Amino acid sequence: MFKLNDIIRPNVLKMKPYSSARDEFKGSANVFLDANENNLGSLAGNNYNRYPDPHQKKLKTRIAEVKGVKPGQIFLGNGSDEAIDLLFRMVCRPGQDSMLHLPPTYGMYEVSANLNDVALQTVQLTEDFQVPVEEVLLNVKPTTKIIFICSPNNPTGNLIEQGGIEDILRAFKGLVVIDEAYIDFADARSWTSRLHEFPNLVVLQTFSKAWGMAGLRLGLAFASEELVSVLDKIKPPYNINEATQELALQALEREEALKDMIEEIVQERELLMEALLSMPVVEHVYPSDANFILVKVGNANEVYNYLLDNGIVVRNRSYLPGCEGCIRISVGTLEENQILLKALVEF
Ligand SMILES: Cc1ncc(COP(=O)(O)O)c(C=O)c1O
Repeated sequence: MFKLNDIIRPNVLKMKPYSSARDEFKGSANVFLDANENNLGSLAGNNYNRYPDPHQKKLKTRIAEVKGVKPGQIFLGNGSDEAIDLLFRMVCRPGQDSMLHLPPTYGMYEVSANLNDVALQTVQLTEDFQVPVEEVLLNVKPTTKIIFICSPNNPTGNLIEQGGIEDILRAFKGLVVIDEAYIDFADARSWTSRLHEFPNLVVLQTFSKAWGMAGLRLGLAFASEELVSVLDKIKPPYNINEATQELALQALEREEALKDMIEEIVQERELLMEALLSMPVVEHVYPSDANFILVKVGNANEVYNYLLDNGIVVRNRSYLPGCEGCIRISVGTLEENQILLKALVEF
């Protein structure tokens, strides 16, 4: 049986969180002389002289409505990268514990593990970029605290099969983090709908992709209320700034516009994939459930540099095991995609 307290670092279990000025104050008041702010005002306007709500109550309440979870099941981070880092700090003892990831995948799991002195266990995705479940479970050690599964996976673009993830969630006694940064572009239900079944499940999402808010830095981790309360305890108190909280609340009122944008991006993705398939330089176009496409080309370095010379930046992924010869192309606007295709024809 999974018990959260069994895997939380002893120092984290013991510690008390920072108590912010606004945490200690209860009731109503007009004069705030408790937080060493600039009470004369803000040079940036908009009451930004005041610290933001450290608990992001309004924002979590609204996100909970939109995502169909309880506010207590939501942790908000300064990008999902902050959630990834805090998950390591919550359960992995530096120099002792390990995490398991499945390359080719998102690079921050490894970077964050290295930063936190957490050993890396690597199991390669299969040739069709799925999770080799038995191999993963065979590799689990007593020190393995987190397994990261990215679905849809970056940079390959595909969803990971549900059955395999379920098997891992049931068998593994640590955290299974499913990174759904690109879920809005996929024809699939989020794993957030299964939180009640798996106390060791953490689902990451972000406002950086479909919501178009990468510059504001807002990431989400959905998990049990118990787990979220630990993440909240160890986060920097004011990790989500006031502008981000305000703008996210506004964006959350624009669900129709979100749907339209996603639809347009998915349509463009399909057109782009079709056009790429007909290019002599393209050897293979991998299926995509995301807002990018992994493409195998003859000579990835040459194609990458040629595109760069033409003012077009794509991601060269050819040095990643499993992605030899591949570039990753984000779906752009209709116009940008045409510029890319024209350049590739001329290659
Ligand atoms: C799979 C995956 N997870 C997380 C992130 C980071 O998201 P955020 O901008 O919320 O830190 C990215 C960004 O590219 C990503 O590809």
